[in-house]
Parts: sequence; structure tokens; C-alpha cells
Amino acid sequence: MQRSGKKTIYGWTSTKEQVELTLEKTIEQIHQDALKELESASDEESIKAISIRYLGRKGAVTQFLRNISNLPEDIRPEAGKKANETKTNLDVLFKKTLKELDTSSWKTDDQIDVSLPGRVTPRGSLHPITQITQKICAIFIRLGFDVAEGPEVETDYYNFEALNIPKNHPARDMQDTFYISKNIVLRTHTSPTQPRIMEKQNPPVRIVAPGKVYRCDSDLTHTPMFHQVEGLLVDKNISFGDLKGILTTFVHQMFDPETSLRFRPSFFPFTEPSAEVDIRCVICKGKGCRVCSKTGWLEVLGSGMVHPAVFENVGYDTTRYTGFAFGMGVERIAMLKYGIDDIRKYFENDLRFLRQF
Ligand code: FA5
Ligand code: MG
Repeated sequence: MQRSGKKTIYGWTSTKEQVELTLEKTIEQIHQDALKELESASDEESIKAISIRYLGRKGAVTQFLRNISNLPEDIRPEAGKKANETKTNLDVLFKKTLKELDTSSWKTDDQIDVSLPGRVTPRGSLHPITQITQKICAIFIRLGFDVAEGPEVETDYYNFEALNIPKNHPARDMQDTFYISKNIVLRTHTSPTQPRIMEKQNPPVRIVAPGKVYRCDSDLTHTPMFHQVEGLLVDKNISFGDLKGILTTFVHQMFDPETSLRFRPSFFPFTEPSAEVDIRCVICKGKGCRVCSKTGWLEVLGSGMVHPAVFENVGYDTTRYTGFAFGMGVERIAMLKYGIDDIRKYFENDLRFLRQF
């Protein structure tokens, strides 16, 4: 074509249509040749070589396109269109073939050994404090108690007022409180669940309420966040004897029937009379050590007969009903159960420690 020159291309033997047909055949032939070569290529290297042979700087399609400028103007567009179509077609095909080659190699047996064992996800376990909380609740469920819950962010009313601890009462000094605002606190004990339950339910009431509580406190036996399990039993004719019986049964089931415990007179504004329960220190077997502050005993819970003022706050008839309540420290019980001498170990997240439970 280019040899014939612009002027002579339509010589007496060639019409415009004939030249167009020849051009079309030529580019189609190039296309077919490329496809044929590609068919017999099986690796990346040979596919890339074919691509260069056709689409490279000196490739067949590129040359064809370059020569179009030498053609008469009226046939350039059609020739250009055909050549560009071929170019795009081949380009897409080369890329697709290369990609397929890439992924098909993944499937070969020497790349992936399907007989290899899978990666095992490490199994977690329940935190010892969660385990002990569940054990405590299980014992009380067997004794006929239900499980209830209350909020950790509590109002001043339920945390103090409803429990007969009025504003400015010195009892508020017993618990160093985290205040969210003037009337909202992080609950300092699980006792606010008592009025919350009694407001909703008439006697008889028999519940335990586990959960987190917060106090500004930190040493060998105190952490700023710890867990308590509250207990509340209200019915007719409930006496201090019932309280002693239930708590003694609990301690004997939680530890063993030989475990010594003692009821020590105490004071809580929401119980009267009140008692704290100590367990013979398992670390030193009662000889006295740093965990039990050399006393041989470790306090695990506070308890007492529900104060009539608390009943009045929730509208219970104090002439018909009596009841007892208790609040135990889960970490303390866990320390005694497992012989741990520093409460803070439970919250350091050291897996070597936690894996032992
Ligand atoms: C109370 O919190 C009362 N609400 C318990 C109660 C409930 C009395 C119902 C009467 C009726 P106390 O402040 O003593 O009481 O705490 C109860 C238990 O929580 C303690 O015996 C102790 O085992 C545990 N405890 C207290 N402070 C901490 C702390 N900072 N870290 C870990 N455990 C604690
Ligand atoms: Mg106490």
C-alpha cells in the first residue's frame, strides 16, 4: 500500500473498496496469527514474547497502525478503526491469559499441600473470677435463689439513700466513691440491687445479684474494681438463724465442710443487727500472714437482717416481713479457694497466671 504512494494507490486495477478489503484482510491475518501463536504458548515468558511481537514498539499491529498515516485520507478512518480494535482485543486477551496462568499455578499440588493440618486457633477460658462467680451462684441456685442484676453506673439514691445512708451520714466515708456527677456514682457495692428488686417484686424474695463494683482502694487485698455477689431473702418469719444457716452452708459447699468461719459483729446502716463473716486464712492456715494481716482470718462478706427503714423505702410491710442480706467479695473467695496471696494478680492479665485455672 505505502509502496504505491498516495497518488497511485487507486491505479486502474484498484478501487477504493478493493484497497479497503486488502487492508482488512491484512489486519485480520495479523489477528489470527497472534491467536494461533497464543494458543500454543503455555508459560508467562512465551506469552509476553508474543505480546511484544504484535503490540510492542516494532510489533505487527503497531507497524500497521503507524503506516496508516501514509494512506489516502478517505480510507484512514476505517483502517485505523480495524487496527485499533485488533490492538485492544489482543491486549485484553494477553493480559487475561497471563492472569489465568498466574492463578492456575495456585491450584497445582506442589504449591498447596492440602494434607497439612490447619492452623489451630488458641482456645480461651473463663477468667477465674468469672468461674468463682458462677460457682457461688450455682450454690445459691441449688438453695432456691434466683439470679438478678443491677446497673454498675448507679444513682446516689439507690447506692446510698434507699439503703438508709442519708447525705452527710458518716457511713458514706466507709466507701471511697467514684462520682460520675453529683447524683450519679459507680456503685460501691451490689447492695443497690436490693431496693431495685424489692420495688418491682412483693415478698417472698430470694435472689443473688453478682456484678462489678468500684472503690478508690488498692493494696494486697483491695482493687479499685472488684466483684461482689449480693444476696437477699425476704419472707415471713426470717431470723438471724436462717442467715447463719444459709451462709454456713454456702461456705462449706464453696470450700469444704471442715472450713472454719466466724460471724463478727459489725455495722451497716441497711442491716440491723449486722455481721461480717471471716474465713480461716488458707494461706497460713490461721497462723497469721501478710494476706490476713497477721490475724489468721480473712473477711469475705458483710451481712445482716434487713433494716426496717429499707423496707419502708420500698413499701414493704415491716410488721409482716423480715429478711436478711449479704454482700460477698468474689476476689477474696477466689484468693482463699486458690491460695493466691495478692488480689492484683487477677487483673494483671498475665496468661501464665490465668492459664492455671
Ligand atoms: C459491703 O459492701 C456491703 N454492701 C455488704 C453487705 C451487703 C452488708 C448486704 C450487709 C448486707 P463491705 O464494704 O464490707 O460491705 O464489702 C463486702 C466485701 O467485699 C468485703 O467483705 C470484701 O470481701 C470485699 N471487698 C471490699 N472492698 C474490696 C476491695 N477494694 N477489693 C476487693 N474486695 C473488696
Ligand atoms: Mg467490710
